[in-house]
Amino acid sequence: MHREPEASLVGEEYEVEVGPVAHGGHCIARTEEGQVLFVRHALPGERVVVRVTEGETGARFLRADAVRVLDASKDRVEAPCPFSGPGRCGGCDWQHAAPGAQRRLKAEVITEQLHRLAGLTPEQAGWDGTVEPAPGDKVGRGEVPAWRTRVQYAVDEQGRPGLRRHRSHEVEPVDHCLIAAPGVTELGIEKREWPQIETVEAIAATGSSDRQVVLTPRPGGRLPIVELDRPVSVLRAAESRGRDRVRLVHRVHGRPFVRERAAGRTWRVGEGGFWQVHPKAADLLVEAVMQGLMPRKGHTALDLYCGVGLFAGALAERVGETGAVLGIESSKRAVEDARHNLQDFDRVRIEHGKVEQVLPRTGITEADLIVLDPPRAGAGKETATRLAGMGPRRIAYVACDPAALARDLTYFAAAGYVPRRMRAFDLFPVTHHVECVMILEPRREDG
Ligand SMILES: C[S@@+](CC[C@H](N)C(=O)[O-])C[C@H]1O[C@@H](n2cnc3c(N)ncnc32)[C@H](O)[C@@H]1O
Repeated sequence: MHREPEASLVGEEYEVEVGPVAHGGHCIARTEEGQVLFVRHALPGERVVVRVTEGETGARFLRADAVRVLDASKDRVEAPCPFSGPGRCGGCDWQHAAPGAQRRLKAEVITEQLHRLAGLTPEQAGWDGTVEPAPGDKVGRGEVPAWRTRVQYAVDEQGRPGLRRHRSHEVEPVDHCLIAAPGVTELGIEKREWPQIETVEAIAATGSSDRQVVLTPRPGGRLPIVELDRPVSVLRAAESRGRDRVRLVHRVHGRPFVRERAAGRTWRVGEGGFWQVHPKAADLLVEAVMQGLMPRKGHTALDLYCGVGLFAGALAERVGETGAVLGIESSKRAVEDARHNLQDFDRVRIEHGKVEQVLPRTGITEADLIVLDPPRAGAGKETATRLAGMGPRRIAYVACDPAALARDLTYFAAAGYVPRRMRAFDLFPVTHHVECVMILEPRREDG
């Protein structure tokens, strides 16, 4: 059968009515021919002119930017960031939406994902349908909270720091990222040039004055002498490979870790390892998880994908010496930090490796309480089924992707665990990301 070669539609413009928000920081619209458009920089209900950025005739969908607004939503604001807009910085998705509207858009996305992928209404998910702002983040129209305590700057050919453009390796030079936390901005990274450097990761710890910069030189590039506006520890990432970043990090000067304060303890986090980015996130998530799990003295608990031990520590305090906690984490450095952070608890054990491989090997067949906080891909069917098989009283699922959460909920449901209560938090203001804490319990015979 003869098929016409597909022609690129990049640069084509269409006038469209913008439909609902979709997962990923865009809204859905259709061309007059019925082709689906994922439109950035628009809001539901608006009439806009879009310009196609990706896609060709016959494609399942096109990507496009709203380049002219003909009929604006009441939720639209002038983007406070001068680097935001079509073709510019890809760091934020909702600069053009009022703060309350951003949270409503995220709530719509969660509602849609739960419905489409797990067949659940908000009520069935035990959720009041709202996305809660973190304390202190209720800013006015046209303002954005400065929340990012970790920022990975990319550096362009001229050595200027910036952030990557949307779905691109190109760098948008930025001299002040509005969502960077004051501790990051104060380092002055945006005010100097970084010759021979590919990325500069800036970390401003919460509750301590620790600051850290992790530099990745360009291939063959030399490390500059780093003098910043205030004392920092500097690390050099020698290797950075794809998604499963294997990073050999060398200390240049200062400590190879930062100390974060959360949940009444100090946490050592080494070499740019995982820590919640929003300064209020660790406290908020611990509170939501503990409220949902209701740990008691003597309970046995699992903290899966445990990082440097945040939930394991909170659980250990509550289950006491008659209880026990097992954490599992795949990053070697994070495991060392977790063991260090929780060394004063005799009944906490941290195992190194992937949950799906380590858990079957532990021989543990029962647990009273389980926390899981997997990466974006979620836990998957095998792990969900295994966890349900341990017969816990309650499971707390901390999810940074509502789609992965919804998929995993179907596996838990098939294994007899159903939603009891859910909360959603705006821990990534101005971006499309959102965090959910879902509490699951065994399905009761009475429904
Ligand atoms: C979202 S973070 C959560 C960390 C911790 N709960 C916290 O709040 O600080 C996910 C963690 O899972 C780890 N990880 C990723 N895949 C894993 C796997 N298959 N098994 C165990 N840990 C994994 C990552 O290294 C990361 O520390």
